Amino acid sequence: MLKDPEDRTFRLGVIGAGAMGQGIVQVALQGGVSVILFDAREGGAESGRAGVFARLERLVEKGKFAGDDLSKAEDNFTAAGQLSDFADCDAIVEAVFEDLEVKQNLFAELEDIVSDDCILASNTSSILIASIARACRNRGRIAGLHFFNPVPLMRLVEVIKGPETRDDVIKALCKLGERLGRTPVVAKDAPGFLVNHGGRAYTTESMRLLHEKVATPAEIDAIMRDCCGFRMGPCELMDLTGVDVNYPVSRIIYEGYDDDPRLKTSFPHLALLSAGNFGRKTGTGNFTYDEKGQRTDTASGDFTTESLPAAKLVLPDPDAALADLVKGLGIATIVDDDGESPILVALIGEDCSTYAARTGTDHCRFVGIDMLCATKRITLMQSPGADRAALEQVAAALLAAGHQVTAIEDSPGFVAQRMCAMVANLGCEMAQIGLATPEEIDLAMRLGLGYPHGPLELAEKLGAKKIVQILEKIQDITGEDRYRPSLWLRRRAQLGLPVHTPGRAA
Ligand SMILES: NC(=O)c1ccc[n+]([C@@H]2O[C@H](COP(=O)([O-])OP(=O)(O)OC[C@H]3O[C@@H](n4cnc5c(N)ncnc54)[C@H](O)[C@@H]3O)[C@@H](O)[C@H]2O)c1
Repeated sequence: MLKDPEDRTFRLGVIGAGAMGQGIVQVALQGGVSVILFDAREGGAESGRAGVFARLERLVEKGKFAGDDLSKAEDNFTAAGQLSDFADCDAIVEAVFEDLEVKQNLFAELEDIVSDDCILASNTSSILIASIARACRNRGRIAGLHFFNPVPLMRLVEVIKGPETRDDVIKALCKLGERLGRTPVVAKDAPGFLVNHGGRAYTTESMRLLHEKVATPAEIDAIMRDCCGFRMGPCELMDLTGVDVNYPVSRIIYEGYDDDPRLKTSFPHLALLSAGNFGRKTGTGNFTYDEKGQRTDTASGDFTTESLPAAKLVLPDPDAALADLVKGLGIATIVDDDGESPILVALIGEDCSTYAARTGTDHCRFVGIDMLCATKRITLMQSPGADRAALEQVAAALLAAGHQVTAIEDSPGFVAQRMCAMVANLGCEMAQIGLATPEEIDLAMRLGLGYPHGPLELAEKLGAKKIVQILEKIQDITGEDRYRPSLWLRRRAQLGLPVHTPGRAA
């Protein structure tokens, strides 16, 4: 029988004393768990110990960890000289190199050392648990326990159920995760599990927008932070995680899902990788940085103009939110084109060119405005060949009223609608293929990536029908399968059901 992770005598083994292994040891000791650490590198376990206890001592100085608990942690810690020291472990988590053969050999060796009731878990971020387990005799006890970096700050832990993992093993790992102060979310064994998979939309759609020259990295980031509430824009986030990390992750997940175009990244990503412009760690990525990681460029994403505000605006389409906004600007509006004033329309999923061609609107004076994702920052766009003065007059009126403006190139769904629709759609697809429940997908994305809303919550907030409309328009205009709505989303939108409505019981 498996030992209850809440039992005082529960003993955890950690293999690999790198960044992740040290983090796991730290949170285990903070949770009062007895831990044994091994690293194949000469002196690796000892230097891992030094790293962990230096951090715990700093926590004691800051009053965030009791001195008594520090001495208990010292008693609870063992640095192992060899793997045979793991014989009495109740669970082992490996955080060694991300290499299938290394992990398979390690697990096979461990099976000869530990009892049948010891859980063997991998912290892998990209290898399927099934492929590690196939090297093992007792596959029911093999699972994933995927922590996030830096472990002590990231509350989420994904508990990965391989095809043969036993339910009691999953239950015990969830309990262990909680004892280590994490929030466990159970996920299916699939490329990128939950968080790395769900995060592809934010990353790859930003690269797509850059590829199409819709906006600069600073403009995309400003829109996603200010209009959609993301803590970091996708381009600065990419620079933080490192292009050397997120490009291969994108490729692995794209290939793992049989080249699904929804998951495809675009050339600007490879361009950064090829040039060695990995982001903060190399000083250059989407932005530039000094040695301390502080931004040295001044790109802001703000549009400025010397133009005078428009005296009158043509609002040909009824839109209550836009009418309210313009009323607040104190500008007179007319419905029929007077042949000289800027024409302003709130577009959903459509670009200016398509709207102008469809309705016979004069594209020269036509300005599209994103009212779905409008906050203090407002996004404007025009079709190719349009008169810039029309956009400048609208922008000047918005700026005079205290708004910030970002002006982008013509794009179906602007930046925000496109990015949000892609994030929501991918979350819905993850629910459709049963990676986890809708609630767990939302929780994982909020905790694992700091999103303001989970992807299905985002679809609910913006409206499932609107998201489908945006995606269908983009798909129609670009002709790309990348934008096809997930059946999960489409069905709930068609039936007017909440996006979280579960499918038929599995
Ligand atoms: N770094 C991250 O952001 C992150 C996040 C989540 C998961 N992961 C996963 O965690 C694992 C470890 O990542 P890391 O960043 O800590 O790596 P790391 O390179 O910092 O540390 C790996 C450690 O494992 C040791 N090691 C290698 N082979 C070994 C073996 N056979 N037996 C014992 N020790 C061995 C190495 O000496 C090294 O100290 C990988 O599987 C990685 O995919 C990493």
